Order: sequence, then C-alpha cells, then structure tokens
Amino acid sequence: MIEVRDVSASIGPIRILSGVSLAAARGRFVTVIGANGAGKTTLLRTISNLLTPSSGRVTFDGKDTRGIAPHRLARTGLVHVPQGRQIVPALSVEDNLMLGASNIRGLARGDIREAIEREYARFPVLRARAGIAGGNLSGGEQQMLAISRAVLMKPKALLLDEPSLGLAPQLVALILKALREMADAGVAVILVEQLAMMSLSIADDAYVLRQGRIVLSGPAADLRGNASVVESYLT
Ligand SMILES: Nc1ncnc2c1ncn2[C@@H]1O[C@H](COP(=O)(O)OP(=O)(O)O)[C@@H](O)[C@H]1O
Ligand SMILES: [Mg+2]
Repeated sequence: MIEVRDVSASIGPIRILSGVSLAAARGRFVTVIGANGAGKTTLLRTISNLLTPSSGRVTFDGKDTRGIAPHRLARTGLVHVPQGRQIVPALSVEDNLMLGASNIRGLARGDIREAIEREYARFPVLRARAGIAGGNLSGGEQQMLAISRAVLMKPKALLLDEPSLGLAPQLVALILKALREMADAGVAVILVEQLAMMSLSIADDAYVLRQGRIVLSGPAADLRGNASVVESYLT
C-alpha cells in the first residue's frame, strides 16, 4: 500500500533523511522506532507530501505520489495523524468526528451516524464529551479523538506520529489496540514511536531509524529480542 524507496529529504540545507526504504502492505502494522531527533516526523511528512523528497520515490496504492497535494492524498485514503494531534479546537467532539466522516464522498447520513457510534463504543469517553470543544479535552482525549477522526476518513493507509506522547500507559494500550484492529481490518498502519518496546509488541514489522537512516529492520518480534535494540531503548 505504501512503498518508500531510497528516499532522502532535507530541511533547508540540512539533510534529514538518507536513503530510507520501507514498505507497508495492506493489513500490515509497521512501526518505525527511533530516538528524539532521529527523523521520524520528517519521514511521515515526506510520505504524506508535506515535505518533498530530494530523491527517491514514494508510492501509495501503486501510484507515485510525486506532486499530489497532501489533502488530495488524504481524500484518496492516505491519512496522517500528526504529532500533537491536530483536532479542530473550537469544534465540538462530535463536529470533529463529522469532519472526519465528510472526507468520504457520498456517505449517507445513517452510515455516518453508525460510524460515529462505533467510535463512541471504541472510546466511550468521547461520547461523554460529545458536545465539548475539542480544545477543552485532555491530551489523551484529544489523541483518541484524532484517531477516531482518522478512522472515520476510511483510510487505506494510516500514518501516526507518536500518539503515545504524554499519555498514561493504559491509554497507550487502548490506542495501540485500536491501531491493531485497523490493521486487521486491512489498513496499512505506519506508527512512528519512541516507545519502542510497546510498539514492537504489537506491530508486525519494524524499522529502526537513527540519524535519518534505517539501521535495522525485520519482524517486530525479532527486533524485540535484538540486543542492540534492547540496549538502546529499554532504559
Ligand atoms: N523545521 C526544521 N528546521 C531545521 N531542522 C529541523 C526542522 N525540523 C526538524 N529538524 C531536525 O531534523 C531532525 C529530525 O527531526 P524529526 O523528524 O522531527 O525527528 P523525530 O520526529 O524523530 O524526533 C532533527 O535533528 C531536527 O532537529
Ligand atoms: Mg517527531
């Protein structure tokens, strides 16, 4: 579904990503782990064309994404949940969810209602807060809202930038479970995280990013037992 081939990217004169290659097929849960500053955010921004690669190629659903605007990619199913959530603070929880569903053209009102109800069942706290402005939610609630909104956009591929940031472990587990369900339903999930061990315990495939390069990759379960990964991250 997503293929990144030998991609390099710079911000201004500074090279941030060097020759990164990775793949996320339909139904695969892929995690990219790396320390702060490794280039995780830059990688996701490059995949969703918020940043144009200086070389290499990104394909989505078999098509080269070069020159396609991020919002158009989102409409065709490449959905990016950026670091720091990005819900609409002034809109209510329910209106934020409606906004997500509006990404799908021709969806009947009843279907939208049903889809929103499914998200309320997944994260009951969102139902309890339905009428409250998104900006007044706690960090964890905003993260759940961001994920539910992304689900309502019916993604084929879902990119998530450190959804665990600042959240309690039980909440992180709830969010990872939602992502696992998305993958099991056929979505290609790419999760970038600093929380390596938790991500490795739930993902199918994993890549380790260090200073803008992939230094290790393989089945997530194998990386979980890899001494150098454990040494770098289990501290
Ligand atoms: N707007 C920017 N201008 C200059 N350097 C940046 C900018 N954004 C990120 N960087 C640098 O790029 C590197 C990778 O950043 P980032 O992709 O945000 O890493 P991560 O998400 O893994 O923490 C870091 O060294 C960071 O300082
Ligand atoms: Mg980041």
